[in-house]
Amino acid sequence: MTDQLGITVTNHILSQQDRHAGATGAFTRLLSEIIMAAKIISSEVNKAGLVDILGSTGRRNVQGETVKKLDEFAHGLMVDRLYRSGHVAILGSEEDADPIEPPRGVETGEYVVMFDPLDGSSNIDANVSIGTIFSILRKRSSGPECDMSDMLQPGTRQVAAGYVLYGSSTMMVYSTGNGVSGFTLDPSVGEFLLSHPEISIPARGKIVSANMGYWHYWDENLKNYLRYLRQPGPERPVYSLRYIGSLVADFHRTLLYGGVFLYPADRKDPKKPYGKLRLLYECNPMSMLCEQAGGKASTGDCRVLEVEPTELHQRVPLIIGSPEDVDEAVAFISGQRNQ
Ligand code: AHG
Ligand code: MN
Ligand code: MN
Repeated sequence: MTDQLGITVTNHILSQQDRHAGATGAFTRLLSEIIMAAKIISSEVNKAGLVDILGSTGRRNVQGETVKKLDEFAHGLMVDRLYRSGHVAILGSEEDADPIEPPRGVETGEYVVMFDPLDGSSNIDANVSIGTIFSILRKRSSGPECDMSDMLQPGTRQVAAGYVLYGSSTMMVYSTGNGVSGFTLDPSVGEFLLSHPEISIPARGKIVSANMGYWHYWDENLKNYLRYLRQPGPERPVYSLRYIGSLVADFHRTLLYGGVFLYPADRKDPKKPYGKLRLLYECNPMSMLCEQAGGKASTGDCRVLEVEPTELHQRVPLIIGSPEDVDEAVAFISGQRNQ
């Protein structure tokens, strides 16, 4: 596979398309529009601070969170580019309370895309890595119209998932169900080039990633797990704590270095007992990628990908990363272990 280093992500998608009998090129066209959106957002992110794209719009989204200008820019761009592909039936975005119907007169297709246009928004103004996350499924309902059954599909039905990380370099990581590959944007040619073929997560790591500021709001089982990680053992290293506050960046490091990322259930807000991360456009795509790389992703009760969604912006707890670390975390969280 290393002889493929440097091939463009578009050529890689086409090679994946050849593996899908009956692939019509529609999927490739769809991913190509996501790639184009990624390049444009990357360009805006890289000049943020020089142009008036930082700061807040002064509005709040359905989540009750402040909408940053770059959130809004990325959201609008993704909607425009995805519908321009001519292969989308309906969209769901973190930045819109409701499903986003196709504009009148636009050619539609069989794909449903759920996305977080800009993940880690609170970090934008501090020049900390942020990202875009997408999840691609097939329309499920019959007939030309869409309904909520097309949006509320379990993660096992994703045909593809990926993210773009706007960091020290801009990377795209995606899977169509045949493993996970990473591409780095070469700004001099404007192409994403294969830099991380066949990503495989280590069986166990030495990093735990969680917002320890919420310690007071976590249950005792979770605290027992984190205490265990902090005690050096004869056969176990002390774990480092790394937390960036952008899921894409924290997950990308976990995917490459191993370890475990947790955004667990907490008692911060009685209205949001299942933590902050959204199932359809944060937890499901990251869980598909993690499993495709040999890792695991759990809500603490079950495999994330098997959760039957009930709402568009539904939140679930997320414990994701190296298989041995996730198993260990879930054993504590479920009360099977307390040391
Ligand atoms: P978004 O910016 O799309 O709302 O996502 C932010 C999320 C996620 O990126 C990150 O893991 C989490 O918020 C951090 O939340 P805390 O600040 O509560 O730790
Ligand atoms: Mn997010
Ligand atoms: Mn977001």
